Amino acid sequence: MINLKNVVISGKEVLPIIEGGKGINGTDGRSSGHFAKEGCVGTISLVSADYYDNNGKVVLERSHKVKRLDRHADLIEGAIKGGIAQAQIAHEIAGDNGRIHINQLWEMADSESVIRGVLEGAKGLIHGVTCGAGLPYKLGELASSFGVYYYPIVSSARAFQILWKRAYVNYSAFLGGVVYEDPWLAGGHNGLSNAENPEVPQDPYNRVCELRSALNKLGLNQTPIIIAGGVWCLKDWENYLDNPEIGTVAFQFGTRPMITTESPISDAWKKVMLNTKPGDVALQQFSPTGFYSSAIKNKFLLRLMERKNGEISFATEKSEQYDTPLSLSSSKTVYIAASDLAKANNQINAGFSVIQETPDSTVVFLTPDEWEIMKKDRAECLGCLSQCQFSSWSGANGTTGKIPDPRTYCIHKTLFDIAHNGKTDDNLLFAGHQVYKFREDPLYANGHIPTTHELIEAIKAGR
Ligand SMILES: Cc1cc2nc3c(=O)[nH]c(=O)nc-3n(C[C@H](O)[C@H](O)[C@H](O)COP(=O)(O)O)c2cc1C
Ligand code: SF4
Repeated sequence: MINLKNVVISGKEVLPIIEGGKGINGTDGRSSGHFAKEGCVGTISLVSADYYDNNGKVVLERSHKVKRLDRHADLIEGAIKGGIAQAQIAHEIAGDNGRIHINQLWEMADSESVIRGVLEGAKGLIHGVTCGAGLPYKLGELASSFGVYYYPIVSSARAFQILWKRAYVNYSAFLGGVVYEDPWLAGGHNGLSNAENPEVPQDPYNRVCELRSALNKLGLNQTPIIIAGGVWCLKDWENYLDNPEIGTVAFQFGTRPMITTESPISDAWKKVMLNTKPGDVALQQFSPTGFYSSAIKNKFLLRLMERKNGEISFATEKSEQYDTPLSLSSSKTVYIAASDLAKANNQINAGFSVIQETPDSTVVFLTPDEWEIMKKDRAECLGCLSQCQFSSWSGANGTTGKIPDPRTYCIHKTLFDIAHNGKTDDNLLFAGHQVYKFREDPLYANGHIPTTHELIEAIKAGR
Protein backbone atom coordinates (compact mmCIF):
# COMPACT_ATOMS: atom_id res chain seq x y z
CA MET A 1 0.00 0.00 0.00
CA ILE A 2 1.13 3.54 -0.61
CA ASN A 3 0.14 6.62 1.29
CA LEU A 4 -2.18 8.18 -1.26
CA LYS A 5 -3.95 11.29 0.04
CA ASN A 6 -7.13 12.73 -1.40
CA VAL A 7 -6.87 16.04 -3.21
CA VAL A 8 -9.46 18.70 -3.96
CA ILE A 9 -10.11 18.68 -7.68
CA SER A 10 -12.83 20.82 -9.23
CA GLY A 11 -14.26 21.63 -5.83
CA LYS A 12 -14.41 18.11 -4.39
CA GLU A 13 -12.13 15.74 -2.48
CA VAL A 14 -11.21 12.86 -4.73
CA LEU A 15 -8.49 10.25 -5.08
CA PRO A 16 -5.47 11.78 -6.87
CA ILE A 17 -6.06 9.51 -9.89
CA ILE A 18 -7.13 11.05 -13.18
CA GLU A 19 -8.09 9.50 -16.51
CA GLY A 20 -6.18 11.31 -19.28
CA GLY A 21 -8.59 12.44 -22.04
CA LYS A 22 -7.98 10.70 -25.35
CA GLY A 23 -9.37 11.65 -28.73
CA ILE A 24 -10.95 10.38 -30.86
CA ASN A 25 -13.18 8.28 -28.61
CA GLY A 26 -10.28 6.91 -26.56
CA THR A 27 -12.18 8.13 -23.50
CA ASP A 28 -15.93 8.62 -23.43
CA GLY A 29 -18.92 8.87 -21.10
CA ARG A 30 -18.63 5.25 -20.07
CA SER A 31 -14.91 5.17 -19.32
CA SER A 32 -14.95 8.54 -17.55
CA GLY A 33 -18.14 7.71 -15.64
CA HIS A 34 -16.48 4.58 -14.27
CA PHE A 35 -13.36 6.52 -13.21
CA ALA A 36 -15.57 9.02 -11.37
CA LYS A 37 -17.65 6.21 -9.83
CA GLU A 38 -14.43 4.97 -8.18
CA GLY A 39 -13.94 8.39 -6.54
CA CYS A 40 -11.40 9.52 -9.19
CA VAL A 41 -11.59 11.98 -12.09
CA GLY A 42 -12.86 10.76 -15.47
CA THR A 43 -12.21 12.72 -18.66
CA ILE A 44 -14.44 12.74 -21.74
CA SER A 45 -12.68 13.57 -25.00
CA LEU A 46 -14.58 16.22 -26.97
CA VAL A 47 -12.79 15.46 -30.26
CA SER A 48 -15.62 14.15 -32.45
CA ALA A 49 -17.24 12.36 -29.51
CA ASP A 50 -19.86 9.80 -30.45
CA TYR A 51 -23.51 10.77 -30.52
CA TYR A 52 -26.50 8.55 -31.19
CA ASP A 53 -29.51 8.31 -33.50
CA ASN A 54 -33.10 7.77 -32.33
CA ASN A 55 -32.44 4.02 -32.00
CA GLY A 56 -29.43 4.59 -29.77
CA LYS A 57 -26.94 3.69 -32.52
CA VAL A 58 -23.68 5.62 -32.92
CA VAL A 59 -23.90 8.00 -35.90
CA LEU A 60 -20.87 7.02 -37.97
CA GLU A 61 -21.64 8.97 -41.12
CA ARG A 62 -19.23 11.83 -41.75
CA SER A 63 -20.46 14.93 -43.53
CA HIS A 64 -20.26 14.71 -47.33
CA LYS A 65 -21.46 18.23 -48.10
CA VAL A 66 -19.79 19.82 -51.11
CA LYS A 67 -18.16 22.82 -49.42
CA ARG A 68 -15.50 22.30 -46.76
CA LEU A 69 -16.98 25.07 -44.63
CA ASP A 70 -20.31 23.23 -44.57
CA ARG A 71 -18.61 19.94 -43.64
CA HIS A 72 -16.74 21.84 -40.95
CA ALA A 73 -19.99 23.25 -39.54
CA ASP A 74 -21.40 19.70 -39.38
CA LEU A 75 -18.23 18.54 -37.61
CA ILE A 76 -18.59 21.20 -34.90
CA GLU A 77 -22.31 20.53 -34.47
CA GLY A 78 -21.57 16.79 -34.15
CA ALA A 79 -18.75 17.38 -31.64
CA ILE A 80 -21.09 19.42 -29.43
CA LYS A 81 -23.87 16.80 -29.66
CA GLY A 82 -21.30 14.10 -28.87
CA GLY A 83 -19.86 15.93 -25.88
CA ILE A 84 -23.31 16.44 -24.39
CA ALA A 85 -24.33 12.81 -25.02
CA GLN A 86 -21.16 11.50 -23.37
CA ALA A 87 -21.51 13.86 -20.38
CA GLN A 88 -25.01 12.50 -19.77
CA ILE A 89 -23.71 8.90 -19.89
CA ALA A 90 -20.82 9.73 -17.55
CA HIS A 91 -23.16 11.41 -15.08
CA GLU A 92 -25.58 8.47 -15.02
CA ILE A 93 -22.74 6.05 -14.24
CA ALA A 94 -20.90 8.22 -11.72
CA GLY A 95 -23.83 9.63 -9.78
CA ASP A 96 -22.34 12.09 -7.31
CA ASN A 97 -19.01 10.29 -7.06
CA GLY A 98 -15.72 11.72 -8.26
CA ARG A 99 -15.51 14.40 -10.90
CA ILE A 100 -16.19 14.52 -14.63
CA HIS A 101 -13.90 16.58 -16.86
CA ILE A 102 -13.89 17.25 -20.57
CA ASN A 103 -10.76 17.44 -22.71
CA GLN A 104 -10.20 19.34 -25.89
CA LEU A 105 -7.16 19.68 -28.12
CA TRP A 106 -6.78 23.46 -28.31
CA GLU A 107 -5.46 23.26 -31.88
CA MET A 108 -8.76 21.81 -33.06
CA ALA A 109 -10.61 24.34 -35.19
CA ASP A 110 -13.31 26.17 -33.22
CA SER A 111 -12.31 24.44 -29.99
CA GLU A 112 -13.82 27.33 -28.06
CA SER A 113 -17.23 26.86 -29.71
CA VAL A 114 -17.17 23.14 -28.95
CA ILE A 115 -16.28 23.65 -25.27
CA ARG A 116 -18.88 26.41 -24.95
CA GLY A 117 -21.59 24.36 -26.68
CA VAL A 118 -20.94 21.34 -24.48
CA LEU A 119 -20.79 23.31 -21.23
CA GLU A 120 -24.07 25.01 -22.17
CA GLY A 121 -25.78 21.78 -23.16
CA ALA A 122 -24.54 19.71 -20.23
CA LYS A 123 -24.85 22.27 -17.42
CA GLY A 124 -24.04 20.85 -14.00
CA LEU A 125 -22.70 17.57 -15.40
CA ILE A 126 -19.13 18.73 -16.07
CA HIS A 127 -16.78 19.97 -13.36
CA GLY A 128 -13.57 20.72 -15.21
CA VAL A 129 -11.98 21.31 -18.62
CA THR A 130 -8.46 20.18 -19.57
CA CYS A 131 -6.79 21.56 -22.64
CA GLY A 132 -3.43 20.93 -24.22
CA ALA A 133 -1.60 21.05 -27.56
CA GLY A 134 -0.97 24.73 -28.07
CA LEU A 135 -1.34 27.59 -25.63
CA PRO A 136 -4.99 27.79 -24.56
CA TYR A 137 -5.04 31.44 -23.50
CA LYS A 138 -8.82 31.75 -23.62
CA LEU A 139 -9.45 28.63 -21.53
CA GLY A 140 -9.46 30.51 -18.21
CA GLU A 141 -12.02 33.07 -19.30
CA LEU A 142 -14.18 30.47 -21.02
CA ALA A 143 -14.33 27.95 -18.14
CA SER A 144 -14.71 30.69 -15.50
CA SER A 145 -17.74 32.12 -17.33
CA PHE A 146 -19.47 28.76 -16.68
CA GLY A 147 -18.19 28.42 -13.10
CA VAL A 148 -16.19 25.37 -14.20
CA TYR A 149 -12.56 24.67 -13.23
CA TYR A 150 -9.83 24.63 -15.85
CA TYR A 151 -6.61 22.68 -16.23
CA PRO A 152 -4.04 23.74 -18.82
CA ILE A 153 -1.70 20.96 -19.94
CA VAL A 154 1.90 22.18 -20.11
CA SER A 155 5.27 20.53 -20.50
CA SER A 156 7.38 23.16 -18.77
CA ALA A 157 7.17 25.81 -16.06
CA ARG A 158 7.85 28.39 -18.76
CA ALA A 159 4.73 27.50 -20.77
CA PHE A 160 2.57 27.96 -17.67
CA GLN A 161 4.20 31.29 -16.81
CA ILE A 162 3.36 32.59 -20.30
CA LEU A 163 -0.27 31.50 -19.98
CA TRP A 164 -0.55 32.99 -16.51
CA LYS A 165 0.93 36.36 -17.38
CA ARG A 166 -1.01 36.81 -20.55
CA ALA A 167 -4.38 35.48 -19.44
CA TYR A 168 -4.91 33.29 -16.38
CA VAL A 169 -3.87 35.91 -13.82
CA ASN A 170 -7.34 37.41 -14.34
CA TYR A 171 -9.13 34.08 -13.85
CA SER A 172 -7.29 32.53 -10.92
CA ALA A 173 -10.41 31.46 -8.97
CA PHE A 174 -11.23 28.63 -11.35
CA LEU A 175 -7.68 27.45 -12.08
CA GLY A 176 -8.19 23.90 -10.75
CA GLY A 177 -4.69 22.58 -11.35
CA VAL A 178 -1.87 22.42 -13.85
CA VAL A 179 -1.18 19.24 -15.77
CA TYR A 180 2.55 18.63 -16.25
CA GLU A 181 2.77 16.29 -19.23
CA ASP A 182 6.19 14.71 -19.78
CA PRO A 183 6.98 15.50 -23.43
CA TRP A 184 9.31 12.48 -23.80
CA LEU A 185 7.02 9.84 -22.31
CA ALA A 186 3.35 10.72 -22.77
CA GLY A 187 1.12 9.21 -25.44
CA GLY A 188 -0.61 11.41 -28.05
CA HIS A 189 0.71 14.87 -28.93
CA ASN A 190 3.78 15.98 -27.03
CA GLY A 191 4.73 19.52 -26.04
CA LEU A 192 8.46 19.47 -26.84
CA SER A 193 9.78 22.98 -27.42
CA ASN A 194 12.47 23.86 -29.96
CA ALA A 195 14.97 24.09 -27.12
CA GLU A 196 14.40 20.46 -26.09
CA ASN A 197 16.03 17.48 -27.73
CA PRO A 198 13.63 14.61 -28.53
CA GLU A 199 16.56 12.21 -28.12
CA VAL A 200 17.56 13.47 -24.67
CA PRO A 201 14.79 13.01 -22.10
CA GLN A 202 14.96 15.06 -18.93
CA ASP A 203 14.17 13.89 -15.41
CA PRO A 204 10.53 14.78 -14.65
CA TYR A 205 11.39 15.37 -10.98
CA ASN A 206 13.45 18.48 -11.69
CA ARG A 207 10.91 19.79 -14.18
CA VAL A 208 7.98 19.29 -11.78
CA CYS A 209 9.98 21.01 -8.98
CA GLU A 210 10.57 23.92 -11.34
CA LEU A 211 6.84 24.12 -12.06
CA ARG A 212 6.04 24.01 -8.33
CA SER A 213 8.51 26.75 -7.60
CA ALA A 214 7.01 28.88 -10.41
CA LEU A 215 3.47 28.28 -9.07
CA ASN A 216 4.53 29.20 -5.52
CA LYS A 217 6.08 32.45 -6.72
CA LEU A 218 2.72 33.34 -8.27
CA GLY A 219 0.91 32.60 -5.00
CA LEU A 220 -0.49 29.33 -6.34
CA ASN A 221 0.95 27.19 -3.51
CA GLN A 222 -2.27 25.21 -3.11
CA THR A 223 -2.81 24.55 -6.83
CA PRO A 224 -2.38 20.84 -7.53
CA ILE A 225 0.12 19.67 -10.12
CA ILE A 226 -1.20 16.73 -12.10
CA ILE A 227 1.62 14.58 -13.41
CA ALA A 228 1.02 12.91 -16.76
CA GLY A 229 3.27 10.85 -19.02
CA GLY A 230 4.94 7.64 -17.99
CA VAL A 231 2.76 7.15 -14.91
CA TRP A 232 2.01 3.44 -14.59
CA CYS A 233 2.44 2.34 -11.02
CA LEU A 234 2.43 4.79 -8.11
CA LYS A 235 5.05 2.79 -6.19
CA ASP A 236 7.50 4.38 -8.67
CA TRP A 237 6.29 7.87 -7.71
CA GLU A 238 6.36 7.58 -3.91
CA ASN A 239 9.07 10.24 -3.64
CA TYR A 240 6.60 12.73 -5.16
CA LEU A 241 4.09 12.16 -2.32
CA ASP A 242 4.19 14.31 0.84
CA ASN A 243 7.13 16.15 -0.67
CA PRO A 244 7.24 19.95 -0.14
CA GLU A 245 9.31 20.36 -3.32
CA ILE A 246 6.40 18.93 -5.31
CA GLY A 247 3.45 20.13 -3.21
CA THR A 248 -0.11 18.95 -3.81
CA VAL A 249 -0.01 16.33 -6.51
CA ALA A 250 -2.26 14.01 -8.52
CA PHE A 251 -1.48 11.53 -11.31
CA GLN A 252 -2.95 11.28 -14.78
CA PHE A 253 -3.03 7.91 -16.51
CA GLY A 254 -3.27 7.94 -20.30
CA THR A 255 -2.11 4.63 -21.72
CA ARG A 256 -2.83 2.25 -18.85
CA PRO A 257 -6.64 2.75 -18.70
CA MET A 258 -6.88 1.95 -22.43
CA ILE A 259 -7.11 -1.70 -21.47
CA THR A 260 -10.14 -2.06 -19.24
CA THR A 261 -13.53 -3.55 -19.95
CA GLU A 262 -14.99 -0.04 -20.03
CA SER A 263 -12.36 1.43 -22.38
CA PRO A 264 -14.01 2.28 -25.71
CA ILE A 265 -11.11 1.14 -27.94
CA SER A 266 -11.48 -2.02 -30.02
CA ASP A 267 -10.34 -5.47 -28.87
CA ALA A 268 -7.90 -5.55 -31.80
CA TRP A 269 -6.27 -2.32 -30.61
CA LYS A 270 -6.07 -3.65 -27.03
CA LYS A 271 -4.40 -6.78 -28.39
CA VAL A 272 -1.72 -4.76 -30.20
CA MET A 273 -1.02 -2.81 -27.00
CA LEU A 274 -0.78 -5.98 -24.93
CA ASN A 275 1.96 -7.27 -27.23
CA THR A 276 4.24 -4.24 -27.53
CA LYS A 277 7.87 -4.35 -26.44
CA PRO A 278 10.22 -1.58 -25.22
CA GLY A 279 11.13 0.69 -28.14
CA ASP A 280 7.91 0.01 -30.07
CA VAL A 281 6.71 3.60 -29.61
CA ALA A 282 8.23 6.42 -31.67
CA LEU A 283 8.35 10.12 -30.80
CA GLN A 284 8.07 11.74 -34.22
CA GLN A 285 6.82 14.82 -36.08
CA PHE A 286 4.41 13.45 -38.68
CA SER A 287 1.24 14.92 -37.13
CA PRO A 288 -0.33 17.56 -39.43
CA THR A 289 -0.59 19.81 -36.36
CA GLY A 290 3.20 20.24 -36.47
CA PHE A 291 3.54 18.94 -32.90
CA TYR A 292 5.61 15.97 -31.89
CA SER A 293 3.56 12.91 -31.03
CA SER A 294 4.05 9.38 -29.73
CA ALA A 295 2.55 6.35 -31.43
CA ILE A 296 3.17 2.64 -31.93
CA LYS A 297 5.48 1.72 -34.82
CA ASN A 298 2.87 -0.22 -36.78
CA LYS A 299 2.66 -0.47 -40.57
CA PHE A 300 1.05 2.98 -40.82
CA LEU A 301 3.82 4.74 -38.88
CA LEU A 302 6.65 2.71 -40.41
CA ARG A 303 5.49 3.75 -43.87
CA LEU A 304 5.56 7.44 -42.85
CA MET A 305 9.08 6.89 -41.55
CA GLU A 306 10.12 5.15 -44.74
CA ARG A 307 8.66 7.98 -46.86
CA LYS A 308 10.57 10.52 -44.79
CA ASN A 309 13.79 8.53 -45.15
CA GLY A 310 13.34 8.59 -48.91
CA GLU A 311 13.07 12.40 -48.95
CA ILE A 312 15.38 14.28 -51.36
CA SER A 313 16.22 18.02 -51.55
CA PHE A 314 15.82 19.82 -54.85
CA ALA A 315 16.21 23.20 -56.53
CA THR A 316 14.07 24.58 -59.33
CA GLU A 317 17.12 25.97 -61.14
CA LYS A 318 20.16 23.92 -62.14
CA SER A 319 23.24 24.71 -60.02
CA GLU A 320 26.58 23.18 -59.15
CA GLN A 321 25.05 21.34 -56.16
CA TYR A 322 21.73 20.47 -57.84
CA ASP A 323 22.82 19.41 -61.31
CA THR A 324 20.72 16.31 -62.05
CA PRO A 325 17.22 16.66 -63.55
CA LEU A 326 14.30 14.82 -61.93
CA SER A 327 10.98 14.87 -63.70
CA LEU A 328 8.03 15.34 -61.31
CA SER A 329 5.42 15.35 -64.09
CA SER A 330 5.23 15.92 -67.82
CA SER A 331 5.37 19.67 -67.18
CA LYS A 332 7.71 20.00 -64.22
CA THR A 333 11.38 19.11 -63.83
CA VAL A 334 13.49 19.94 -60.77
CA TYR A 335 17.19 19.42 -60.02
CA ILE A 336 18.62 17.14 -57.37
CA ALA A 337 22.18 16.35 -56.30
CA ALA A 338 23.79 13.65 -58.46
CA SER A 339 24.48 11.70 -55.27
CA ASP A 340 20.69 11.39 -54.70
CA LEU A 341 19.90 9.95 -58.13
CA ALA A 342 20.25 6.31 -57.06
CA LYS A 343 18.02 6.99 -54.02
CA ALA A 344 15.35 8.43 -56.34
CA ASN A 345 15.60 5.63 -58.90
CA ASN A 346 15.48 2.89 -56.27
CA GLN A 347 12.18 4.26 -54.97
CA ILE A 348 10.69 4.75 -58.45
CA ASN A 349 11.69 1.20 -59.44
CA ALA A 350 10.15 -0.16 -56.23
CA GLY A 351 6.75 1.28 -57.27
CA PHE A 352 6.93 4.65 -55.49
CA SER A 353 6.56 6.38 -58.79
CA VAL A 354 4.48 9.44 -57.82
CA ILE A 355 6.84 12.23 -56.76
CA GLN A 356 5.38 14.95 -54.59
CA GLU A 357 6.83 18.23 -53.39
CA THR A 358 6.91 19.20 -49.73
CA PRO A 359 6.85 22.80 -48.41
CA ASP A 360 10.61 22.48 -47.63
CA SER A 361 11.94 22.19 -51.21
CA THR A 362 12.16 18.44 -50.96
CA VAL A 363 10.31 15.62 -52.69
CA VAL A 364 8.94 12.33 -51.39
CA PHE A 365 7.90 9.22 -53.30
CA LEU A 366 4.45 7.61 -53.14
CA THR A 367 2.78 4.63 -54.80
CA PRO A 368 -0.06 5.58 -57.18
CA ASP A 369 -2.52 4.08 -54.64
CA GLU A 370 -1.12 6.18 -51.81
CA TRP A 371 -1.44 9.27 -53.98
CA GLU A 372 -5.08 8.50 -54.83
CA ILE A 373 -5.89 8.11 -51.12
CA MET A 374 -4.04 11.33 -50.29
CA LYS A 375 -6.02 13.27 -52.91
CA LYS A 376 -9.30 11.80 -51.65
CA ASP A 377 -8.46 12.62 -48.00
CA ARG A 378 -7.68 16.21 -48.94
CA ALA A 379 -10.83 16.53 -51.00
CA GLU A 380 -12.91 15.26 -48.06
CA CYS A 381 -11.18 17.50 -45.47
CA LEU A 382 -13.49 18.60 -42.66
CA GLY A 383 -11.27 21.46 -41.50
CA CYS A 384 -10.86 19.77 -38.12
CA LEU A 385 -7.66 21.62 -37.13
CA SER A 386 -7.07 25.34 -36.81
CA GLN A 387 -4.10 24.80 -39.15
CA CYS A 388 -3.36 21.59 -41.04
CA GLN A 389 -0.06 20.84 -42.75
CA PHE A 390 -1.54 17.89 -44.66
CA SER A 391 -4.29 19.85 -46.44
CA SER A 392 -3.01 23.43 -45.97
CA TRP A 393 -6.38 24.29 -44.42
CA SER A 394 -6.38 27.21 -42.00
CA GLY A 395 -9.48 28.09 -40.01
CA ALA A 396 -8.49 31.77 -39.93
CA ASN A 397 -7.59 32.33 -43.60
CA GLY A 398 -8.84 29.30 -45.51
CA THR A 399 -5.25 28.31 -46.33
CA THR A 400 -1.89 28.27 -44.56
CA GLY A 401 -0.31 29.61 -47.75
CA LYS A 402 2.04 26.60 -47.92
CA ILE A 403 1.76 23.65 -50.23
CA PRO A 404 0.09 20.58 -48.68
CA ASP A 405 2.72 18.38 -47.02
CA PRO A 406 2.77 14.77 -48.28
CA ARG A 407 4.96 13.70 -45.32
CA THR A 408 1.93 14.03 -43.03
CA TYR A 409 -1.56 12.50 -43.03
CA CYS A 410 -5.19 13.29 -42.25
CA ILE A 411 -5.27 12.82 -38.51
CA HIS A 412 -9.03 13.11 -38.24
CA LYS A 413 -9.63 10.31 -40.72
CA THR A 414 -7.24 7.87 -39.08
CA LEU A 415 -8.20 8.59 -35.47
CA PHE A 416 -11.90 8.37 -36.33
CA ASP A 417 -11.34 5.12 -38.19
CA ILE A 418 -9.31 3.38 -35.47
CA ALA A 419 -11.85 4.57 -32.89
CA HIS A 420 -14.59 2.81 -34.83
CA ASN A 421 -13.09 -0.63 -35.46
CA GLY A 422 -10.66 0.42 -38.20
CA LYS A 423 -7.65 -1.78 -38.97
CA THR A 424 -4.77 -1.55 -36.51
CA ASP A 425 -2.20 -1.86 -39.32
CA ASP A 426 -3.56 0.97 -41.44
CA ASN A 427 -4.18 3.62 -38.78
CA LEU A 428 -2.29 5.71 -36.28
CA LEU A 429 -2.09 4.13 -32.81
CA PHE A 430 -1.18 6.81 -30.29
CA ALA A 431 0.41 5.33 -27.15
CA GLY A 432 2.70 6.32 -24.30
CA HIS A 433 6.29 5.05 -24.23
CA GLN A 434 5.54 2.67 -21.38
CA VAL A 435 2.87 0.74 -23.26
CA TYR A 436 5.21 -2.29 -23.18
CA LYS A 437 4.43 -2.60 -19.47
CA PHE A 438 1.14 -4.32 -20.31
CA ARG A 439 3.21 -7.42 -21.15
CA GLU A 440 4.98 -7.38 -17.80
CA ASP A 441 2.18 -6.29 -15.47
CA PRO A 442 0.50 -9.23 -13.64
CA LEU A 443 -2.86 -7.39 -13.81
CA TYR A 444 -3.00 -8.30 -17.53
CA ALA A 445 -1.54 -11.81 -17.27
CA ASN A 446 -3.04 -14.37 -19.69
CA GLY A 447 -4.82 -11.64 -21.62
CA HIS A 448 -6.90 -10.54 -18.61
CA ILE A 449 -8.79 -7.31 -19.26
CA PRO A 450 -9.44 -5.67 -15.88
CA THR A 451 -12.49 -3.62 -15.02
CA THR A 452 -11.89 0.05 -14.16
CA HIS A 453 -12.62 -0.93 -10.54
CA GLU A 454 -9.83 -3.55 -10.60
CA LEU A 455 -7.45 -1.05 -12.23
CA ILE A 456 -8.12 1.64 -9.62
CA GLU A 457 -7.70 -0.89 -6.79
CA ALA A 458 -4.32 -1.89 -8.26
CA ILE A 459 -3.26 1.76 -8.64
CA LYS A 460 -4.33 2.57 -5.07
CA ALA A 461 -2.28 -0.38 -3.83
CA GLY A 462 0.75 0.99 -5.68
CA ARG A 463 0.72 -1.94 -8.15
C1 LIG B 1 -4.50 7.21 -27.68
C2 LIG B 1 -4.19 8.50 -26.97
C3 LIG B 1 -4.89 9.64 -27.30
C4 LIG B 1 -4.68 10.84 -26.63
N1 LIG B 1 -5.42 11.93 -26.95
C5 LIG B 1 -5.31 13.07 -26.22
C6 LIG B 1 -6.16 14.18 -26.46
O1 LIG B 1 -7.02 14.16 -27.34
N2 LIG B 1 -6.01 15.28 -25.70
C7 LIG B 1 -5.06 15.35 -24.69
O2 LIG B 1 -4.97 16.37 -24.00
N3 LIG B 1 -4.25 14.31 -24.44
C8 LIG B 1 -4.36 13.17 -25.17
N4 LIG B 1 -3.57 12.09 -24.87
C9 LIG B 1 -2.63 12.18 -23.72
C10 LIG B 1 -3.25 11.56 -22.45
O3 LIG B 1 -4.36 12.25 -21.99
C11 LIG B 1 -2.24 11.49 -21.31
O4 LIG B 1 -1.89 12.76 -20.82
C12 LIG B 1 -0.97 10.78 -21.69
O5 LIG B 1 -1.28 9.62 -22.42
C13 LIG B 1 -0.22 10.41 -20.44
O6 LIG B 1 0.89 9.62 -20.72
P1 LIG B 1 0.86 8.01 -20.63
O7 LIG B 1 0.28 7.57 -21.90
O8 LIG B 1 2.31 7.65 -20.48
O9 LIG B 1 0.04 7.62 -19.44
C14 LIG B 1 -3.73 10.89 -25.58
C15 LIG B 1 -2.98 9.75 -25.27
C16 LIG B 1 -3.20 8.56 -25.95
C17 LIG B 1 -2.41 7.35 -25.57
S1 SF4 C 1 -7.01 17.15 -43.78
FE1 SF4 C 1 -6.27 18.11 -41.87
S2 SF4 C 1 -7.84 19.65 -41.30
FE2 SF4 C 1 -8.70 18.30 -42.86
S3 SF4 C 1 -9.85 16.77 -41.67
FE3 SF4 C 1 -7.79 15.93 -42.12
S4 SF4 C 1 -6.50 16.49 -40.37
FE4 SF4 C 1 -8.37 17.73 -40.29
